[in-house]
Amino acid sequence: MATVECRSIRKAYGAVEVMRDFDLKIADQEFVVFLGPSGCGKSTMLRMIAGLEDITGGDLLIGGERMNDRDPGDRGIAMVFQNYALYPHMTVRENIVFGLERAGVAKGEIDTRLAPVVEALGLQVYLSRKPTELSGGQQQRVAIARATIKTPEVFLFDEPLSNLDAKLRGSLRVEIARLHNDLKTTSVYVTHDQLEAMTLADRIVLMKDGRIEQMGTPEEIYQTPQTLFAAGFIGTPNMNFLELNAADDELTDGAVRLKSPFSVRPGPVTVGIRPGAFKLDDGAASLQGVVERNEFHGETRLVTVRVNGNDVNVAAPASGRFKKGETVGLVVDAQDLHLFDPATGKRISG
Ligand SMILES: Nc1ncnc2c1ncn2[C@@H]1O[C@H](COP(=O)(O)OP(=O)(O)O)[C@@H](O)[C@H]1O
Ligand SMILES: [Mg+2]
Repeated sequence: MATVECRSIRKAYGAVEVMRDFDLKIADQEFVVFLGPSGCGKSTMLRMIAGLEDITGGDLLIGGERMNDRDPGDRGIAMVFQNYALYPHMTVRENIVFGLERAGVAKGEIDTRLAPVVEALGLQVYLSRKPTELSGGQQQRVAIARATIKTPEVFLFDEPLSNLDAKLRGSLRVEIARLHNDLKTTSVYVTHDQLEAMTLADRIVLMKDGRIEQMGTPEEIYQTPQTLFAAGFIGTPNMNFLELNAADDELTDGAVRLKSPFSVRPGPVTVGIRPGAFKLDDGAASLQGVVERNEFHGETRLVTVRVNGNDVNVAAPASGRFKKGETVGLVVDAQDLHLFDPATGKRISG
């Protein structure tokens, strides 16, 4: 097992810079998730760690050793991709052990290593099948087994669950978490899916336009997003944003009046409120609006309330009754407000 360190890593394709000043230290045994929208540079960064892409500038260290010019095969990594890339003419067993055989590992040793991996991933009954005789989820398990059996220092995953349906994605996500819990191998996992990131990561590295936007535990990023981008990207349903003005202790646009959690310099403020932070209360409401839409989500309802020209999403109890067109009052605690400077997009703290 090993640490991974990225020191001011840059990547350019010709004149086009796609990664700038990427600085990150990953601890031994840590599970780090690169999260961000499509095209932000997650795969590029992962592929530079793997040695599949040249590093334009900066240093990459694995286990304290500089890896920039080291071949992928000498970096102690194993990678799992979105498309499983199994050899179609080989059986499951042959696919899993192929790398070890090619590396000249003795047959007895291969069998010893195969048994626990196959068991951990529930592949016992599929060993003699060909990949085309497996479902997508089973094929991806084989790909994970093939990576696991190498007993790498670092696991790299690039959107390994993206090709699977929602249910399989959920169950394989649990298996990946369990595998990491058992093996403790340092892992870097790329995804655009914030739920995957939240559930798997010790630490999330949120990326945007080839830069790190924010890093932290899932709790830190969810509870204290440092930018409007981080606030909007993490959390479903999405955070609501209201453009208000700070005046005295109030955040207001005339119609909406919210008590500020701390005193803010007078002027425009973007106020973020998570849908679950609202309580319905006609008496002491800090904002009022008209019900536009009401979606039943099982445990909750997502009620869209039109508040002074803005659509505000409210996570309400499933038992609540909301009629389109009726006026409702909403309350929100001052401590549940996230304040941002609309000019810079940065969080305002008390
Ligand atoms: N071979 C390439 N040549 C030029 N630009 C590329 C190449 N590969 C990736 N890019 C660009 O680099 C950026 C990051 O891509 P990528 O790392 O694949 O994003 P992600 O994995 O976050 O979706 C994108 O803007 C993409 O267009
Ligand atoms: Mg990608």
